[in-house]
Amino acid sequence: MGEDRLELLGDFPFKRLGALLEGLDPPADRAPILMQIGEPQAAVPTSVMRDIAASADLFGRYPAPAGAADHRRAIADWLGWRYGLGGGAVDPERQVLVTNGSREALFQAALAAAARKRARLPDGARPAVLLPNPLYHVYLGGAVMADCELVPVPARETSGFTPDFASVPAEILDRTALCYVCTPGNPTGTVARPEALEAMIRLARAHDFTLAVDECYSEIWVDAPPTGGLQAAAALDGGASDFSHVLTFNSLSKRSGAPGLRCGFVAGDAGLIADLARVRSYGGATVPGPLQAAAAALWREETHVEANRALYCALIDVAAEELSGLPGFRRPEAAFFLWLDVRETAGDGEAAAKRLWVEEGIKAMPGRYMARPAAPGAAATPGDPYVRIALVHDPQTVRDACRRIAAALSRGRRD
Ligand SMILES: Cc1ncc(COP(=O)(O)O)c(C=O)c1O
Repeated sequence: MGEDRLELLGDFPFKRLGALLEGLDPPADRAPILMQIGEPQAAVPTSVMRDIAASADLFGRYPAPAGAADHRRAIADWLGWRYGLGGGAVDPERQVLVTNGSREALFQAALAAAARKRARLPDGARPAVLLPNPLYHVYLGGAVMADCELVPVPARETSGFTPDFASVPAEILDRTALCYVCTPGNPTGTVARPEALEAMIRLARAHDFTLAVDECYSEIWVDAPPTGGLQAAAALDGGASDFSHVLTFNSLSKRSGAPGLRCGFVAGDAGLIADLARVRSYGGATVPGPLQAAAAALWREETHVEANRALYCALIDVAAEELSGLPGFRRPEAAFFLWLDVRETAGDGEAAAKRLWVEEGIKAMPGRYMARPAAPGAAATPGDPYVRIALVHDPQTVRDACRRIAAALSRGRRD
């Protein structure tokens, strides 16, 4: 019998969390706070409604599969500005593809990369996909459904949660179709250093694989804007902008607090963009024209992004004020998640998630559901000792939540 890929795919983390908490009720005397999902709760910029209404006639046309020309231009200009690449560095026609958020493009990138690599490997050789571990689960889904060997690479606290992809045996690297990296990282809240990104690009070129840099949290940072994949490639290439072997993924979901708009993009290596565009022309959802008009305007506007960033910085400060005394607390560098090490206070992330829910009505994601076994056949994952907590509500709600988290976990401290 062949491999059961649906079995390998398994349930998505939110479904697993639902099963874990099945039959468990939160306390009746306080409102639950849902912190398991990274869904921005702030209001969508008002320009969105105005711009959609102003271009509503476009609902009468099929959208261009690769995205509206003006939208792609806005994205290319934003990339040039944000990463200091200079005007005109990113070609909107050849190097930018509009996508329905970044999620489906991250998934489809594995299909395109695996097809490309399989054609270059000897008969029977199986393409591999390198995955950070822990990870955003869509990477796993793409790799599994593209029929690739999964190669989880641990992202440990001791190495700043940056996976050491160069430690993968050369035989596997030669078969690698795609390597995912997430910076700023979900779930760990850490940023890949420029040297680390450059090393990954060198590795991708040496072994002819696609480096997929998921940057959907790029604008949620505290001290300095994180380096991007295109920026690292340009630095490596003395400012040239062919971005060979690199694709970057981003969207307005976190940057502009508009996850329901479903507007994202892929940018980078023109050859890889063409492959992905071909795959998407068969099975990719296009983005309705009025939504693209609203999205283009958002890429051209930074005031709301600064306000968003200030909110998330304030939320991280609130969490630090309330939780810095708790063992296992670490301030995220970027993005809006706490990756809380609960081994001392609860044993593991599943136990912590249950206790937080039952005792305090806080819903949090066990780290285990965002990770793969550390070794083939092993039961343990590097996510086991953690819970992921999304800081996406208003400051007062987050303060209340953090107090409740501290209360539940302090109660359970095993000392
Ligand atoms: C790391 C990461 N990448 C990509 C996405 C997909 O977001 P969207 O499709 O809304 O751009 C998410 C959503 O939570 C995410 O956490």
